[in-house]
Parts: sequence; C-alpha cells; structure tokens
Amino acid sequence: MSKFTTTSFIKSKKEGRKISMLTAYDYSTAKLLDEAGIDSILVGDSLGMVVLGYENTLQVTIDDMIHHTKAVARGVKNAMVIGDMPFLSYHVNIEETIKNAGRLIQEGNAHAVKLEGGTEIIPQVEALVKAQIPVIGHLGLTPQSVNIFGGFKVQGKVEEDAKKMIEDAKQLQKAGAFAIVLECIPEKLAELISKSIEIPTIGIGAGKYCDGQVLVTQDMLGMFSNFTPKFVKKYADLGDSIRKAVAAYCSEIQNGVFPETKHTF
Ligand code: KIV
Ligand code: NA
Repeated sequence: MSKFTTTSFIKSKKEGRKISMLTAYDYSTAKLLDEAGIDSILVGDSLGMVVLGYENTLQVTIDDMIHHTKAVARGVKNAMVIGDMPFLSYHVNIEETIKNAGRLIQEGNAHAVKLEGGTEIIPQVEALVKAQIPVIGHLGLTPQSVNIFGGFKVQGKVEEDAKKMIEDAKQLQKAGAFAIVLECIPEKLAELISKSIEIPTIGIGAGKYCDGQVLVTQDMLGMFSNFTPKFVKKYADLGDSIRKAVAAYCSEIQNGVFPETKHTF
C-alpha cells in the first residue's frame, strides 16, 4: 500500500473509487486501522465524548487535540491523518486559526485539518490553504453548533437550509478545501451536493451517494453505547467481548486459574 494523500482524495472521486475514513485517538488503534488498509484517519473532536467522557465536543481544547493527534500519527504508515480543529480554535481570528492549525501539523504531525461550517468560515479556509495547510470542510450536523441547533438533529430538511448547504459546499471548494464531511443530512441532499462539486464528500449519516464514508470507530466496533445514532452500523461488539474477558480475568484470579506455570518465572 502507498500513502493516501490529498491528491488520492481527488483522484478517488474522479475514478469512482470510494474513500474510507474512521476516527482514532490513540497509537494502538490507529496502528490497527492503518494495518487494515483504511484510507484516512480522523482524530475527531468526538474525542471529547468517546474518550474523555464529556457530554459534547465543546470542552475539547487544541492541546487535547495535539496530544491525541501525535499519538495517532505515530501509529500510522499509509493513511492520511486529519486533525480536527476544536471549538473556538478557528473562530476568533485568522491569525489564531493559522497558529492552531499549524500546531496540529507541526506538533501533532497531522497531514490536514478539518473545520466545521460553511460561508462563515471561508476566510479561515482560504488563509489555511494559503499557508499550505490542507483543509477538509464539515457541513450538516456540525456538533460544535449543538447549542444553536438545540440538540443533535438531522440538518438540511428545510429547502432553505438545503440550498444554503449546497452553496456552502461550492464556497468551500472554491476556497480550496480538498474534501467535505457531510453529517446527518438527507440522502438526496448529499447526492445533490456530491454531484455539484469536484472535491469528494465523506458522509456520516448522509447515505450511499457520498464519495466516501466515515464513522466513529468506537461506535462501529460496539465500544461506546451511551448513545448509538441510526446511521451507525456495528461491525463488531468489542464492548461485549471486553466485558466478558475482564469478568473471566477477575474470576480466574479469584479461583487461582491465572496465572499458570507458563506465565511464571
Ligand atoms: O469528531 C468526529 O469524529 C467527526 C466525525 C464524526 C466526522 O467530526
Ligand atoms: Na468533529
């Protein structure tokens, strides 16, 4: 396998080959995903919910993101590593945006960054691309807007919102983004957006017409059960396996089955 890069994203869409993406937040998981042949790994700010136990993503800081992006990057040989820009790390001004994104690249060893939002953040996207930092956009259910949305809900159902989202996607492409994540929007709208732009769309709860798919790894492996959205497919039930393995370990300690001679010096 060779390295998956920004040009691989664009080339994949041209050739009609779907792009695979999963999240990771640590070295050993990232290594497993990379060994399995995943195209790209997102160090998502879902970190806050899945790994740090917060209620939403708003408490995640740029230092948290750098810390985990570093760990992921150390485990990866071929996949593209994308660092998520957390809440308020790209909203204050252009200077802070470049500094924060730059830290994800320079300290975190990410290859690209992801920002939530459309037309509102176009100046930031343009500035990052000028600074030679590849950018992925994120439209639809953008979790950092949870308090504005009033919860985690499907977006783009109203025609006016759908029209804005198509315009947002075109603007992001024009500003130099090399891909756009579409989260929790109707399949028809995702199809329309995917056909309206040349850069690939990566869907999560956005149907089969996207140019690629992303899921939160802990969701698809059945390791995080606080809340499972409709769009998650469980490819394994590691949560159940872990609970069973730990219970077996505990009882084997009690009844003297573990450790055996072969585990002993
Ligand atoms: O933080 C995250 O995991 C994400 C993906 C769900 C797209 O932004
Ligand atoms: Na995110």
